[in-house]
Amino acid sequence: MAPILEADSLRVTFDDPHRAMLIAVDGLSLAVEAGEFLAIVGPSGCGKSTLLRLLSGLLRPMAGQVSLRGQPLAAPRREIGYVFQRANLMPWRTVLGNIILPLEIDGVAREERETRAREQIALVGLEGFADAYPQQLSGGMQQRVALARALIHKPSVLLLDEPFGSLDALTRERMNAELLRIFDLRSPTVVMVTHSITEAVLLADRVLVLSPRPGRVRAEFPVPLPRPRQVDVTSEPGFLQLVRAVRAEIVD
Ligand SMILES: Nc1ncnc2c1ncn2[C@@H]1O[C@H](COP(=O)(O)OP(=O)(O)OP(=O)(O)O)[C@@H](O)[C@H]1O
Ligand SMILES: [Mg+2]
Repeated sequence: MAPILEADSLRVTFDDPHRAMLIAVDGLSLAVEAGEFLAIVGPSGCGKSTLLRLLSGLLRPMAGQVSLRGQPLAAPRREIGYVFQRANLMPWRTVLGNIILPLEIDGVAREERETRAREQIALVGLEGFADAYPQQLSGGMQQRVALARALIHKPSVLLLDEPFGSLDALTRERMNAELLRIFDLRSPTVVMVTHSITEAVLLADRVLVLSPRPGRVRAEFPVPLPRPRQVDVTSEPGFLQLVRAVRAEIVD
């Protein structure tokens, strides 16, 4: 099977006023199969968010190439959904208003916009909150809105940058269960960055560990747990063993 998304020898540098040049990622290559859930972990600042921006087409590498279905990716695409490290909701727009924004930009007719947005609102479990404003929602609910907005074009690839990083442990566990449900329902290809190794092993088919900056793939762990998965798999011995093995590969 050919990969849906490929990164080949990516290099990104940033100008740093205090130093000569900051190399964020270098020689970073990976391939994601269609329908695969890939989790990416690594020390803070190793280039994970930079990698997702590259995979989304928002950032062009200085060297190397990202390909979607074998074609070079030169700009963002509708078929790639993106949830940023922060929810990035517009405070003056309601839940519905935030979710329909990508459709407004596309000039989709009002009625169809609303129908499609309400479908996503139901999918992420926010029925009854369509007319609420972001500041009236909890952190977990705001992340659901960001997820719904990313799902509005029914993306074949979903990029998630620590979507649950700011949530308390219980809410995070609920969101993990929700994401598992949505993944089983929609089966998109997912690339998710997370700081939580437990979350990575629970959700993913494969976990990649990045090296300290400049980020490149340091280790790879297939996750042989059957689907559909429930959150209680996290207490099984095999699960804990895998979490330990992944943790041992993360160096700061
Ligand atoms: N726009 C930018 N300008 C300058 N430097 C940047 C920029 N974006 C990222 N960097 C630098 O590139 C490196 C990688 O940043 P990145 O945000 O990709 O790390 P990360 O792995 O996502 O970190 P975290 O886990 O803390 O979110 C860091 O040293 C960061 O300071
Ligand atoms: Mg980041």
